[in-house]
Amino acid sequence: MVQVAIIGYGTVGSGVAEVIERNAESIAKKAGQKIEVKYICDIRDFTDDPNQDKLIKDFSIILNDPDISVVVESIGGLKPAYQFVKDSLLAHKSVVTSNKELVATKGWELLKIAREQGVNFLFEASVGGGTPIIRPMHQCLAANQFDEIAGILNGTTNFMLTKMAREGLSFDEALSLAQQLGYAETIDPSADVDGHDCCRKICILASLAFGRHIFPDQVPTSGIRTVTTEDIALAGQLGYAIKLIGRAKKQEDGRVFIEVCPALVDRASQLSTVDDVFNGILVRSDMLGDVLFYGRGAGKLPTASAVVADIIDTVRSENIHQSLYWEKVDEDFLQDAAQDV
Ligand code: HSE
Repeated sequence: MVQVAIIGYGTVGSGVAEVIERNAESIAKKAGQKIEVKYICDIRDFTDDPNQDKLIKDFSIILNDPDISVVVESIGGLKPAYQFVKDSLLAHKSVVTSNKELVATKGWELLKIAREQGVNFLFEASVGGGTPIIRPMHQCLAANQFDEIAGILNGTTNFMLTKMAREGLSFDEALSLAQQLGYAETIDPSADVDGHDCCRKICILASLAFGRHIFPDQVPTSGIRTVTTEDIALAGQLGYAIKLIGRAKKQEDGRVFIEVCPALVDRASQLSTVDDVFNGILVRSDMLGDVLFYGRGAGKLPTASAVVADIIDTVRSENIHQSLYWEKVDEDFLQDAAQDV
């Protein structure tokens, strides 16, 4: 039996416990052994929760328990997630995370520590929620060289743009609806609407594709605040949809062009048909050509299913994922954003 600890018992963390419980039998078959949640670490108190007996507040209990071989980080943000993940890896525990901010800013360092410690650092759920993208790019497309990634990577803004296009809602009305439905943060929706979430995700995909860490603050990023209902209607008349696109493209000189901005997407392209809260990620590589990954980019159980798949992979892999790796390099790697491509 493999014993797992979950740190952060919010939407994703509680979803992970639920997926492990609900699909216990089939997960055990696929992993080759039973997977059990031993601890759930959160500073909050939970009453009437089926996992109440597993709740702890002190993370050091997890670190010091040799029976815990996998730690699931679903706290989000950098503090304290970064330190907890780093400490777990240094304690020879594999870590699985859905935390895109953590991977986008600290991925190179955590992958290096995992490699040195001979454990796994996996993050399928950090991009695309439940939609497979990290493992397909890393494993299924391993024989290819990547040329370009262009993705609708944020479900909230895609939902808003879809409502603005279909129902003529203004930006404010669409945001208010997204907040009512729980997609956008009520107090500060800027991570979604200003493109930061999309930026973190394209940084992760580009780092994976091109083997060098690309930091979010290196990427020219604009969100959808300035997009009006009239812009969308006019684009529609001309045969285009407006989508928030994260894009990274390898240039002939080997450098990478990367940006996040609202873009006109030809209605003839598959990407333009990705609506509502769905994500769509177009990956262009030299042998396969184009492939589109499409599915739910957020949500409790979809995202949790990707986290649990990483746990299963960690448990059953005889060859640990030492090849899932990219480096931090100081030399100029990104193409000047102002340059037209
Ligand atoms: N806020 C994100 C989105 C959640 O709307 O896509 C999933 O990362």
